[in-house]
Amino acid sequence: TRVAVIFGGRSSEHAVSCVSAGSVLRAIDRTAYEVVPIGISTEGGWVLAVDDPDQLVIRDGKLPQVDATRPAVVLPGDPTARALTVFDESQPSGALGEIDVVFPVLHGPYGEDGTIQGLLEMADLPYVGSGVLSSAVSMDKAHMKVALAGAGLPVCDYVVVTARRWKTENAAVRDEIAALGWPVFVKPARAGSSVGITKVKRPEDLDAAMAAAQEWDPKVIVEATVIGREIECGVLEGVVGPEGVQGAPEASVTAEIRVLGDREFYDFEAKYLDDSTELTVPADLDEEVAAKVRALSVKAFEALSCESLARVDFFVCPDGSVLVNEVNTMPGFTPVSMFPRMWAATGVDYPTLIDRLLSTALQ
Ligand code: DAL
Ligand code: MG
Repeated sequence: TRVAVIFGGRSSEHAVSCVSAGSVLRAIDRTAYEVVPIGISTEGGWVLAVDDPDQLVIRDGKLPQVDATRPAVVLPGDPTARALTVFDESQPSGALGEIDVVFPVLHGPYGEDGTIQGLLEMADLPYVGSGVLSSAVSMDKAHMKVALAGAGLPVCDYVVVTARRWKTENAAVRDEIAALGWPVFVKPARAGSSVGITKVKRPEDLDAAMAAAQEWDPKVIVEATVIGREIECGVLEGVVGPEGVQGAPEASVTAEIRVLGDREFYDFEAKYLDDSTELTVPADLDEEVAAKVRALSVKAFEALSCESLARVDFFVCPDGSVLVNEVNTMPGFTPVSMFPRMWAATGVDYPTLIDRLLSTALQ
């Protein structure tokens, strides 16, 4: 089976995607899968990447990036071959052959948002992860909250601020935000890894935070602060049985994230660049609360029509109530990422996890 592992891309999470792909390349069972690593440059060019996980790591605080000078990859539409053909210009024969399945290890816009999923659907290529609608809705924090709340799932209070509203209804928007209570979190609607997010404690700091978020997305979501523990849970689509009937989605054990020191929240640096974060797997939760988190994870997965995999992030409040913070349809696979760790703690090790994702995609 030939797998295209696609990574990088035009999103603010380009580097995180590279690191995720590095971990996938390292863990994937080479006796079962032939791997073709494909990088998408920050400009959107598709290239044949080097199959070397050691190049896809964060070293001395330096983030990896796809090398745009590598040989190009032919996009779908080549009439001489099915769907996606990969060429290695340095080889006399040229073509590396057809791809059986794609693992788009892409985070953020142009990858986790339905765009590449649409391309792969058009090309009739099986792929790991959720489909077009689910990816698009889950990528947009405003639409995601509507879908989750519509399915009866608890979410925090929030205000959606489009570029137009911020300009033309500024005073009214400020009042709506103030009504959430301070501090608030100002986030680009479509981004990930906490890129562009600011915790705002005073009304006078709103403008700078809005500008920082708008750098990534003209649409911004402002969320009320939830006092609670940060808990995450992994979901995998059910396994196909002998009659092709799909079992229910399965939830992993939960994990807790605690940001130490003077960091205000689980931001990009805390996530990937320093050791200010304490990760506990499984989370030390009452059995009843853990069961609730796992059940809500599956509910969120289904509310957003997710397929294949997702990581659902929660707040568990002191009174035992649980809020869904967000759903990530292509969660991080980096060495410090929670999704593979939660599954390892559930009894599904990294190579088995990848095998399960690829097998589900091929069914
Ligand atoms: N957006 C990052 C990759 C995550 O959710 O893990
Ligand atoms: Mg996210």
